[in-house]
Amino acid sequence: MDRCNKLVDVGRRQFLRGGAFAAAGMATAVALPLQAQAKAAPGLALVEYPSNKLANVADLKPNEPLDVSYPDENAPGVLLKLGTKVEGGAGPEGDIVGFSTICPHKGFPLNYNADDHSFNCPGHYSRFDADAGGQQIWGQSTANLPQYALRIDAKGDIYAEGVDELLYGRLSNVL
Ligand code: FES
Repeated sequence: MDRCNKLVDVGRRQFLRGGAFAAAGMATAVALPLQAQAKAAPGLALVEYPSNKLANVADLKPNEPLDVSYPDENAPGVLLKLGTKVEGGAGPEGDIVGFSTICPHKGFPLNYNADDHSFNCPGHYSRFDADAGGQQIWGQSTANLPQYALRIDAKGDIYAEGVDELLYGRLSNVL
């Protein structure tokens, strides 16, 4: 029976050693993904936008959309001089804005209503407020209208340098 007790004792030590290895392995497994995440994180949010000249302030007429495209020729949009300082507005009066004109719901082209400064969708009737950064004010869309980040230089040239929402139908605004 002495032999039998030794075998039980050896078995117990093996079990405890195995448990220690398993615990060490779990600690490593938990630590590794954190290291991997720390390295991967900066790439996820990084989108390089082109700085494209869209027009000059002299080209704009008050409350009349000027057709442009940004960030490429397949992304139609407009520039607008609204006449009063608004959210995201550029220029000396803070009243120049730019928006995509593709509905974020299912991609219908939007119409601009100069009376209430809204973009309106003929598809399922969503509406977006140009005075409030393209905020969705009614309808099927669950996203706001993508607005351009604008910069105006000393000569009055208007540059788009980013978009604040994902353009309809794209996995990334800049492919
Ligand atoms: Fe504009 Fe549906 S496509 S509301």
